Amino acid sequence: MRLKHRPWGDEFVKAHPELIKNRYTLEDSDFLDFLKRDNLELEIGVGRGDFIINKAKKHPEVNYLGIEKSMMALAITGKKIGEEHLENLLLVNIDVSYLFERLPDAIFNRIYLNFSDPWPKKRQHKRRLTYPSYLEAYFRLLKSGGEVIFKTDNDVLFADSKEYFASSKFSVISIDEDYQLAMDDEETEYEHKFRALGVKIKRLVARKD
Ligand SMILES: C[S@@+](CC[C@H](N)C(=O)[O-])C[C@H]1O[C@@H](n2cnc3c(N)ncnc32)[C@H](O)[C@@H]1O
Repeated sequence: MRLKHRPWGDEFVKAHPELIKNRYTLEDSDFLDFLKRDNLELEIGVGRGDFIINKAKKHPEVNYLGIEKSMMALAITGKKIGEEHLENLLLVNIDVSYLFERLPDAIFNRIYLNFSDPWPKKRQHKRRLTYPSYLEAYFRLLKSGGEVIFKTDNDVLFADSKEYFASSKFSVISIDEDYQLAMDDEETEYEHKFRALGVKIKRLVARKD
């Protein structure tokens, strides 16, 4: 997501270290304590935050960690939350590949990948968030029985991702090529846009047995 850089974004992020962490604040005790909580779920690439904010509001018993490399996207997400303090939500402004080594094994129940960038050129495939090297990292980070839930509008990314998952240590437990939003799911900004255009949403769920 390319968003124009605005000075208010920097100011907002600096003013809210209790909500938005970055590569320099990963040793903060509130971040380290958050990782020790029970019932942790992770979203990678939160964008403008609708999914993770709505999840956090509806499920106060679940703790949500949201990762996003775009500072402006996180500033917009933070603004949406407003004055309400969601005690079960923490965001990190970082490329997730720099975060993996800081995260302990087997801490998450679920990892959400929502409308991840498709990176269409072959030389870019290794940047896809479903690429085998990423799936290996997710397998380590998930508890036994934990799931990766992947939604996309993109047919090529979905077809390739099915192969990545099939060759991984995960068990693929569901594949839906025309996914209708489930009662316990939340719509993302991209999902909203593509559904309005009549694009079929694809969804795959894979489990660490
Ligand atoms: C196409 S947007 C989708 C945003 C949102 N999930 C949605 O469905 O509306 C993909 C988002 O993932 C973020 N992203 C992509 N690769 C990332 C990475 N390696 N680490 C952190 N964020 C990433 C991008 O900055 C962008 O905001």
